[in-house]
Amino acid sequence: MDKIAIEGPTRLRGTVEVSGAKNSALPIMAATLLTDEKCVIKRVPPLRDVNTMIKILRNLGVKVQVEPGRLVIEPKGYKNYIAPYKYVKEMRASFCVLGPILAKHRKAQVSYPGGCAIGNRPVDLHLKGIRALGADLKIEHGYVVGETRQLKGAHVYLGGAFGSSVLATDNVMMAATLAKGRTVIENAACEPEVVDLADFLNKMGAKIKGAGTHFIEIEGVKRLDGAEAEVIPDRIEAGTFMVAAAITGGDITVKGARFDHLGALVDKLQDSGVTITRHGKDIRVRVQRQLRPVDITTLPYPGFPTDLQAQMMALMTTINGISVITEKIYPDRYMHVSELARMGAQIKLEGDSAIVKGVKQLSGAPVMASDLRASAALVLAGMAARGRTDVSRVYHLDRGYDKIENKLSQLGANIHREREE
Ligand code: UD1
Repeated sequence: MDKIAIEGPTRLRGTVEVSGAKNSALPIMAATLLTDEKCVIKRVPPLRDVNTMIKILRNLGVKVQVEPGRLVIEPKGYKNYIAPYKYVKEMRASFCVLGPILAKHRKAQVSYPGGCAIGNRPVDLHLKGIRALGADLKIEHGYVVGETRQLKGAHVYLGGAFGSSVLATDNVMMAATLAKGRTVIENAACEPEVVDLADFLNKMGAKIKGAGTHFIEIEGVKRLDGAEAEVIPDRIEAGTFMVAAAITGGDITVKGARFDHLGALVDKLQDSGVTITRHGKDIRVRVQRQLRPVDITTLPYPGFPTDLQAQMMALMTTINGISVITEKIYPDRYMHVSELARMGAQIKLEGDSAIVKGVKQLSGAPVMASDLRASAALVLAGMAARGRTDVSRVYHLDRGYDKIENKLSQLGANIHREREE
């Protein structure tokens, strides 16, 4: 197993390029299961999660060619309809193959996802939506086993206790493209990744309107063709670099990001006193004054993303004063709190809120990554801390960040990967 070693503190300077969005690439890859024709997906980031999806597709009988910067996917004649536990347990996004396989083959068997470090993550909305389209879904031996004679359009309300669901919206939207008649998804997720998927499906010949709003309409078609997609820039990776600039008191330019996807983060960083300027597709982030604490509540898009909560908490631990972070998507997503405490952070948990009292200087320490975004937060904290920080279990980081240590070292961080004894 690898670990990331960081010697801090560092002040980041320079330019960094954003990769394609993991959370867009994965459902788009799953969508190719709806056609028999060749699809080309560009700007797919080389990540562990993408590899897991490639394994799922290959296991189903789909040909996947990995070329520099793009994937060529040929689903023609894939016969298998099973997504096994060994892959789904690696990554919950695997579950979004259920809708496409069922729509194409009229039967599907997808492992029921297990537990997850960021808390309970049910799939009831996925099941509710796909059942509403007329599929018979049973839970057998740890698998969701689905069958249908023909999916039929329906009106589905997809709101849960924590609001809309990104992957449930994706799953139902993909299934509905080949259903007979019209489907309406009410309380659909509005995330940019849902829009990216809908754009790709429409290029394949689907008839989807309203993606990006809470109300998506899908007119079913008989078949879908092959298509080409270019995945949108990863707003969470871009956001992580922006917070990295803030926590290190740096001055960096994030290249190729979508400013319009980062509204909630930009707003909070500016409230905190960070200077953010936009130059075309580049975003310059610099610290020119003493930063102030800000309160943050995570919410579905366009609210503050839960996937940037841990990184923002790392920043708040270094700012003089008190800030309150409230997690409204995953109330237990606080595994990073005790690791940040090992670095001297002062954080008190109260229900779904964390009360952070900024300290003068974090202190480097050996810490352990528990999930993808928590790992990123620990790396950011390590760059701000005095002395050496070793972040172990970095396979979490490799799930969602394309060579983060290389990108950060280009910005001047003293960071490298080591084999753990
Ligand atoms: C996606 C993102 C993940 C991000 C999350 C929230 C991908 C591959 N992953 O995950 O990085 O953290 O959105 O922005 O895109 N819920 C239910 N029932 C369901 C499904 C979800 O109650 O059937 C709840 C979840 O527990 C959570 C909330 O809905 O409280 C939102 O989760 P959801 O949007 O579904 O997350 P994912 O799509 O799995």
